[in-house]
Order: sequence, then C-alpha cells, then structure tokens
Amino acid sequence: QELQMNIEEIEKGGYDHFMLKEIYEQPRAILDTYRGRLRASQGIIKMAGVDQNIEKFLNANRIIIVACGTSWHAGLVAEYIFEDLARIPVEVEYASEFRYRNPVITDKDIVIAISQSGETADTLAAIKLAKEKGAFVFGVCNVVGSSIARETNAGAYTHAGPEIGVASTKAFTTQITVLTLLALKLAKEKGVFSESRFHEYLAELENIPAKVERALQTNVLVETIAEVYKDSTNCLYLGRGYNFPVALEGALKLKEISYIHAEGYPAAEMKHGPIALIDEHMPVVVIATNRGHYDKVVSNIQEIKSRKGKIIAVVTEGDETVRDLADHVIEVPDTFESLMPLLTTIPLQLLSYHIAVMRGCNVDQPRNLAKSVTVE
Ligand code: G6P
Repeated sequence: QELQMNIEEIEKGGYDHFMLKEIYEQPRAILDTYRGRLRASQGIIKMAGVDQNIEKFLNANRIIIVACGTSWHAGLVAEYIFEDLARIPVEVEYASEFRYRNPVITDKDIVIAISQSGETADTLAAIKLAKEKGAFVFGVCNVVGSSIARETNAGAYTHAGPEIGVASTKAFTTQITVLTLLALKLAKEKGVFSESRFHEYLAELENIPAKVERALQTNVLVETIAEVYKDSTNCLYLGRGYNFPVALEGALKLKEISYIHAEGYPAAEMKHGPIALIDEHMPVVVIATNRGHYDKVVSNIQEIKSRKGKIIAVVTEGDETVRDLADHVIEVPDTFESLMPLLTTIPLQLLSYHIAVMRGCNVDQPRNLAKSVTVE
C-alpha cells in the first residue's frame, strides 16, 4: 500500500495531481507531436500514414470525424481547420449516434476516428461500420497499439505520453496539433495554400509550445478567479468560430471534475435560451480573442453585462476593449486564428482544476467517470 503511494507520488513528478502535471506537460507534448513531422526549413510535413494514402485523401469527397467526449471536441475544432485551411467538407459525429444511424457513407469518404485511449467502445464500433461501408478510416490515437490504432486503415499517433487524469487535457491539445498538421499537409498538396502561407504556418506552429508556456503563466491569476467562483452552482461558457468548441470543452472540464453544472454555447446562440439564466449569480466565461468575430463577441459581452452576469474573459495580450467590460480578464498570446484553441484552452483547464481542488473533489478520478469507456 505504502509502496504504491510512493510510486504514485514519483509519477506525479512533484505536482499534487496528474491532471495538473498533464496540463503543464502540454508545451512538451505539442512539441513531441510535431517533432519529426514538421520540417519547417524544408517546408514539408511528413506523416507516414498520410503519405502512403495521399491519393485517398486528395480524392475524398468529405471527411467524417467520429469520436466521444473531449476527443469529439477536438473533432469540432478540426472541422473548422479542415474546412478553413484545406477546403474539405467535414462532418463531426458522436460515435454513439453514428453507429446506430444507418449513415450514408461511400468509398469516397474518409472517416477520421479520434481517441486518446484507442479503446472507446462506441468509437471502435463506428470504425467497423465505416469500414464495412467501404470508407477509408484514419485513426488519431494516443495509446500505441490500442484497439482503434489496430482497427483503422492508417493513422497518426499524438505522442502526448501517458494521460492518467480522467479529465483529458494534453490529449486534447495534441489531437488538435495532429489534425492541424494533416490539414496543412492537405492544403499544400491540394494547392489551396501558397508556399509562403504554408511556410508562415509552419513557423507559427513552431512558436506554439512557447506560447502555451506563456498561457500557463496565467495560473496564479486563474487560481484567484477560481476562489471567487468556487461556490457557484452554474457556469456558462461562450465562444465563436474556432473558440466555440473550446467553450464546450471548458464547460465539460468544469462539470467533470468540480460537479458544477456548466454549459458551453456558441456565443450568438445565447439569445435563444441561455440568456434567460443570466443574473448577478451567473459566471460567464467568454473566449474573446482578437481574431475572427471579435466585435460580435464584444457585443455578446455587453449583453451579459447589462443583465449583471459576471464575466470572465479570455482575451489576447494587450486587449483593452474587453478589459473595460469584464470582471476578470485572462490574457493569452496572439497567434493565427486557427491555432488559437491551443492557447485559449489552457486557462480553462486551470480554472476547472483549481475550482475542483478548492471544492475538495477527487480531481484525477471524478465520481462515476472512467478514463476509458470500453462498454456501451
Ligand atoms: C471518457 C473520458 C474522457 C474522454 C472520452 C473519450 O469519457 O473520461 O476524458 O474524452 O472517454 O475517450 P477517448 O479515449 O476515446 O478519447
């Protein structure tokens, strides 16, 4: 028993919880994900599973992404990335719905299955169905040699290292990294991207680990914000565009480990329902970085403020407009709009972590949840 405890302490590497350790591992994990694949100086991205099947990718009519939980959120980010950068139509499906829906799939479709564990039963079943219908199935897994990694036609590992905390953190950001590499590669092969734009992206991707490191420096500030809202019973998360899935993921992190009811919404949908919930007791986390739909998000913030909601805003470094409106601002570095989720996710992970710790919750093993769901 005692020996077991000591081994666990060593594995946590000085952190109080695996989740915190894994949050802090993200700069390194993202680097490990693109290391060996990204050759910025040569201007190429090497991904064996894609290179060997490049014709399939280039001739695909559309990409269908299947996943569950946090991996499904990474799929939603990827939808924006593939459509925006590579101009390929994408659908994102809950694996559990897809498998029972008699979906229309042909051999012109590519199915991408995203799974940290590579063992999620619904995702595995969705893959088998897609293969039966003739689709080419590409896996994005973290666990090497897992069932999904073996069942797919080809794939790319995230190389995030073991993720122990039940609430997924570094798996999410590395999944997004792999999918970004894939989208950039296809954008270049399809001729959608000019050489210079491609190079700019590769260079910016190389800056991401250092920017994630800077986003992690918000930790002390985020802890003070957690102190203010730790006793809340509800919390709303809003974002638009690339930051909409980040809002969903932020809400999922909070409910998973702190048991506070939280919901993520696309910011503009607020007026179709959630706005009715807003009063002086409602914290609203708004991702309001300066690219994309900044002005629209600023008006959403004004709508919340006029109803006395408490605003916790994630903004770009140097932002002044939102600072004047929000109760709290958390700054992350600037980057390309499509890479923003890799940064805006970080303070939301930290916020849920600190709130859960302050509420005395079992952060690494929340009640009723499992790290890998191998049954339906
Ligand atoms: C469980 C885990 C989540 C995870 C989801 C999908 O619910 O608690 O953290 O996102 O399964 O798991 P996968 O291994 O397929 O990514």
